[in-house]
Amino acid sequence: MTTEIKKILVGVAWPYVNGEKHIGQIAGAYLPPDIFARYQRLIGNEVLMVGGSDTHGTPITLKADADGVTPAEIVNKYHELFVDGCVQLGLTFDLYTHTETQNHWDVTQQMFLQHMEAGYVYKDSQPQLYDPIAKRFLADRYVEGTCPFCGYPEARGDQCDNCGRIYDALELKNPRSKITGSTELEVRETEHFFLDMGKMNEPLLAWIKEDKEHWRPNVLNFTRGQLELKELRGRAITRDIDWGVTIPLEGYADKRIYVWYDAVIGYLSAAIEWANLAADATGDAEAWRQWWDGDINPDALIYNFIGKDNIPFHTIIWPGMLMGYNEGGANLNLPYDVPANEYLNLSGGKFSTSRGRVIGWNTVLREFQPEAWRYVLTVMAPENSDVEFTWQEFMDRVNNELVANWGNLVNRVLSFAYKRYEGSVPTPGELDATDQALLDEIRAGFEGVGELYNAVKLKAALTEARRLSQRINQYLNEKAPWQAIKNDPEAAATSLYVALQAIDWLSILWAPILPFSSEKVRQYLGHSEPLFGRQYTERVEDARGSHLVLRYDPTEARGRWQAEVLPPGQAMRAPEALFVKLDDDDMADKLQAVL
Ligand code: MF3
Ligand code: ZN
Repeated sequence: MTTEIKKILVGVAWPYVNGEKHIGQIAGAYLPPDIFARYQRLIGNEVLMVGGSDTHGTPITLKADADGVTPAEIVNKYHELFVDGCVQLGLTFDLYTHTETQNHWDVTQQMFLQHMEAGYVYKDSQPQLYDPIAKRFLADRYVEGTCPFCGYPEARGDQCDNCGRIYDALELKNPRSKITGSTELEVRETEHFFLDMGKMNEPLLAWIKEDKEHWRPNVLNFTRGQLELKELRGRAITRDIDWGVTIPLEGYADKRIYVWYDAVIGYLSAAIEWANLAADATGDAEAWRQWWDGDINPDALIYNFIGKDNIPFHTIIWPGMLMGYNEGGANLNLPYDVPANEYLNLSGGKFSTSRGRVIGWNTVLREFQPEAWRYVLTVMAPENSDVEFTWQEFMDRVNNELVANWGNLVNRVLSFAYKRYEGSVPTPGELDATDQALLDEIRAGFEGVGELYNAVKLKAALTEARRLSQRINQYLNEKAPWQAIKNDPEAAATSLYVALQAIDWLSILWAPILPFSSEKVRQYLGHSEPLFGRQYTERVEDARGSHLVLRYDPTEARGRWQAEVLPPGQAMRAPEALFVKLDDDDMADKLQAVL
């Protein structure tokens, strides 16, 4: 394993806080970065995992209109709900913030002005759909129609949910107003600021051709295809709405910066906010530069974890914005990888809030053990294609794999050892070839499983850890220490020790996916150092008000991705079952509560 410590920025897609998120979104964009970040911390890399709630744009204002409350009320309610879900599921953001902060406004406005100065932002007037009944311009999601590319009839004004393409609302066929339902729309001129993406087409094409072999094929092909068309052109980055970051120039009080311009800046602004908050401990309010500033650290690796609908914003627009910004003398690092996932769908169709087809993640976290979700959403991860979720598969995976394969193994071996060896790790005799073979194979997992986590092949990492669990089960069937203890206590002590050692190591290999139970296994085995740091929330005051943030303190945990020797005789702690098996009655009750 490499000893060189890397800085890894884990940027997590900023969820619109317009409702409870559903498990498809968690599987796609929120759980994978945590698994990856935990692995990177375990091998000793310095991770900065940042993100926050996307509080702007028409998804928020439409919801506020529908509920008859202010956008700020919607934002606060669902931001707190999301933070709560992060704590339950153990999503270890170094900082999870939101975009209604003074810091985020400052960074966004500064980038806007910089883009203007460098000639990447220009002012122009643009024809736009106008609803004469509502007397309003129809920004983004306020208009729906038929996709100009794929013909999907419910395409939004800013992006098609079916084919993922982005376009101008004027290109929609049969547009209709979401406010009044009217199809009698006018086209009126309105003045806006534009990001000159046309200038970025060539540089982006050159960039996408440089070492991108580690990118997922779907992400790379989509991006390359779009760039090769050489059709990038100016894109309006302001809107006629009254919610969002203001334009830092005189005379535009009735317009706001477009949500897709400000949200991606969040990856940078959140790192800056983190550095400021952490400065008490680090003494360095500029620490964010270690990940972002190519003059200080060109080797930092920036990952953006997203769902596939976000691909063009992260592989074209955001890198283009960074390139334009860098012309002003900065040298910010571009994304190293954008491991976008496909969709996890509810069997028989898409998850859809509007059609009531959702499984809310806060809701299921109240009813089920969080690690059942961490496990199932990883084993079913839509890494390369869409995947259908069924409750039957959820239950089968929990019972037949998580519980049967790993949970029962741990419980059986630890309980037996604890009971029969006076609460301490038995002392082995000499190891035979079977013992050695098992230990060698599990030890090799630090390389093998590690490589898979590192390549963001999380489903494959899980499969490999599951195979190793099965391997320990086989070993125990062969050695049957529960029998041997009657007539060959030394053989029993040896095979139990070997099994405990294997479990001890394997719990580390499982830890990115199953952090809570892995910490428990370590405690039961008598270790005192935790694998991970501590997650906590805090309220932060600034000139725009106060916001709840989620933070992470890594100090107690240091690079524990190592096959250390389990000391014979080490005092254990009384083990308890790691996971709960689901039976049919139980499931029926829980589903009643969830659906
Ligand atoms: N809020 C948007 C969405 O949920 C954008 C997320 S990623 C961003 O699709 F960082 F770019 F904001
Ligand atoms: Zn389409």
